[in-house]
Amino acid sequence: MPKSRILVIDDEAAIRDSLRMTLEYEGYEFVGAATGQEGLALAEREAPDLVLLDVKMPGMDGLEVLERLRHTNDALPVVVISGHGTISTAVEATKKGAFDFIEKPFASERVLTTLRNALDTRHLRDENRTLKKAVEVRHQMIGESRALEQVTAAVSRAAPTNATVLISGESGVGKELVARTIHRNSQRSRERFVQVNCAAIPEELIESELFGHEKGSFTGATEKQVGKFEQADRGTIFLDEVGDMSPKTQAKVLRVLQEGEVERLGSARTIKVDVRVIAATNKNLEEEIEKGTFREDLYFRLAVIPIHVPPLRERPEDIPLLVRHYVEFFSRENNTRPKRITQAALDALQRYRWKGNIRELRNTVERMIIMTGGETIDLPDLPESVRSPTAAGLASTKLPTDSEGAKLGTLREFKENAERAFLVGKLRENGWNISKTAEVIGTPRSNLYKKLEQYQIAQETDG
Ligand SMILES: Nc1ncnc2c1ncn2[C@@H]1O[C@H](COP(=O)(O)OP(=O)(O)OP(=O)(O)O)[C@@H](O)[C@H]1O
Ligand SMILES: [Mg+2]
Repeated sequence: MPKSRILVIDDEAAIRDSLRMTLEYEGYEFVGAATGQEGLALAEREAPDLVLLDVKMPGMDGLEVLERLRHTNDALPVVVISGHGTISTAVEATKKGAFDFIEKPFASERVLTTLRNALDTRHLRDENRTLKKAVEVRHQMIGESRALEQVTAAVSRAAPTNATVLISGESGVGKELVARTIHRNSQRSRERFVQVNCAAIPEELIESELFGHEKGSFTGATEKQVGKFEQADRGTIFLDEVGDMSPKTQAKVLRVLQEGEVERLGSARTIKVDVRVIAATNKNLEEEIEKGTFREDLYFRLAVIPIHVPPLRERPEDIPLLVRHYVEFFSRENNTRPKRITQAALDALQRYRWKGNIRELRNTVERMIIMTGGETIDLPDLPESVRSPTAAGLASTKLPTDSEGAKLGTLREFKENAERAFLVGKLRENGWNISKTAEVIGTPRSNLYKKLEQYQIAQETDG
């Protein structure tokens, strides 16, 4: 580690000399200044790690020097040296942002301890800043299309408020990312962000997940459970796939939103909660309301601020940026040098329809980074489906022929037939791996399972 450089600003030569001896003996680098003016100039030129600053000096006094230092370099720690009886000035200095103060005459031990503290704190703060930056890159929303700009603008408007937000959009467009960004930029950012995937939790468990239960409140409730709403108290709860909640759960959630209180299952006691709700869905809730599967009153409660995240194919300008971002990201992740990507490959990626949106794009780029041996990613390195989407899509998806189509009387029959053929084709392509297929065609696994049942699709045994 390089030596820490300490700038001492003090008009008394004796003090500067004694500090020089102490500091150099301890392995620090010493820089001395006899006036405030000189000190400021050296602070700029020598980039010290810490400043020891005398308060009482002729000409520009310490407090003014401190103010100017704060102005030019906010992160530079300053320790103030005050003469006997000028403690009040020193206190004022700490209020102005000095890290600490030392009273004259001082023992060198005291100086060294204070220095070490200040340097450690600075070091920690630097580390924190680096970490935070890394996190920010991870959660960055990439893109500069008009469509995404509108989303970001809505996010900034929604974030500082307590309003409920309803995020809609296809699978993989970035709904969760939007929700997390809102929380991170809200006044609740230091509190918890609690996520509940309403589609993944079995119907009979969801209420106890959300609201908690008392021990023995039902068979299997061997321990008390604190619900997600309580866990999110003072923070944010993210109700993901909110369109998949049963009517009964919807009614209960509505009550929490109206009353701001929850009741654990098996308990008559109500518990006040202060929770900001962000919900997301890939369903069209207006349609669900029409069908009678989603409560209108709950919809209005949730959609105080609606944010729609458009699918990637409606904002192709974002694709090259996202590709470059993920190429860099996964190269770093896999400890390889960032690969170059040819214009032809970029064009093909931009033309592709990305039914699984950004998630599909991300996975595709990751695969390419791992599978491409060379330094350059070119057309042949892209998956077949991306290179020639129509060929790959249609070959495996036997659409009904004209005569078959004629036999299918209604539009609905035709659509179902086509959908079934499409699903079988995609399943075959993906080795009957449900998760993978769901991802590729951009639908939640739960939905794919429903379709398999609806169309009575079972895995072929003969391949
Ligand atoms: N604008 C963006 N810039 C960079 N990465 C993004 C962007 N939008 C989404 N992503 C990334 O894409 C992936 C999918 O996003 P996310 O999980 O937020 O989508 P979703 O809409 O919640 O999907 P689903 O409906 O399937 O749950 C994540 O890895 C996310 O970080
Ligand atoms: Mg999601």
